Amino acid sequence: MEIIVKQTEHELAEVAADAIQDLVERKPDAVLGVATGSSPLPIYRELGARVKAGTMSLARAKAYQLDEYVGLPADHPQGYRNFVEREFVAITDIESRNVHGENGQAQDLIAECARYEQEIVDAGGIDLQILGIGVDGHIAFNEPGTSLGSLTHPAVLTEQTRRDNARFFDGDITQVPTHALTQGVGTILRSRTAVLIATGANKADAVAAMVEGPVTSLCTGSALQLHPNVKILLDEPAASKLKNLDFYREIFDRRPEGTWLGL
Ligand code: GLP
Repeated sequence: MEIIVKQTEHELAEVAADAIQDLVERKPDAVLGVATGSSPLPIYRELGARVKAGTMSLARAKAYQLDEYVGLPADHPQGYRNFVEREFVAITDIESRNVHGENGQAQDLIAECARYEQEIVDAGGIDLQILGIGVDGHIAFNEPGTSLGSLTHPAVLTEQTRRDNARFFDGDITQVPTHALTQGVGTILRSRTAVLIATGANKADAVAAMVEGPVTSLCTGSALQLHPNVKILLDEPAASKLKNLDFYREIFDRRPEGTWLGL
């Protein structure tokens, strides 16, 4: 794991955007994995700014969502497809038709998950997966107890997650869906590169468990310890409970020249 700590969200977003820019310069039709939640928003805004400035383009890129709520009407603003349209597609030059997600209104949810997993495989797999982390250490909607080998599957959301996400539903937990379709931990581990962003003191325990705790389904983010190429982007409050923080800074400062991030 490469741990990168910066002072501001904007600096973290620049690191992630540099990685994405480097990827699409080498491979214009790259496949991105896009996360929802508030943490990745600065990354999408930085990508939007670069596209607007004409310094990068996502015109040939594809994107796959991590997850989608089950049962929300197609036009619900908090549906993850609509979130991705608003916060990512609308502000970059990626084509809406090249952005894909699970259909949370499918009749047969298990068949829909199998179809989606295969669609990602057929697209050549995800080159770079953007991730956030929940306060209980979940990635995508892989709640505690989810198999670390899981592929895309229907999931039941914990009360904690629904409480956390109630802020997007007028603060009313009863409006937050109880189920979602989500890429599995195993799906995420298949991505070639993963970039996880976490900011704020409320993520410090989850970050410490993910980076320094045991690999356990009780904190599905900890499975990223098995990922061959994962970057963890943190601000100081989110990094504050890492025991080996000084060493991670030293690793970053002494990184070999020409490493992927080049920073
Ligand atoms: C939801 C999403 C996750 C996201 C998490 C944290 O549970 N399914 O992908 O990482 O929220 O969201 P935030 O970044 O808003 O804290």
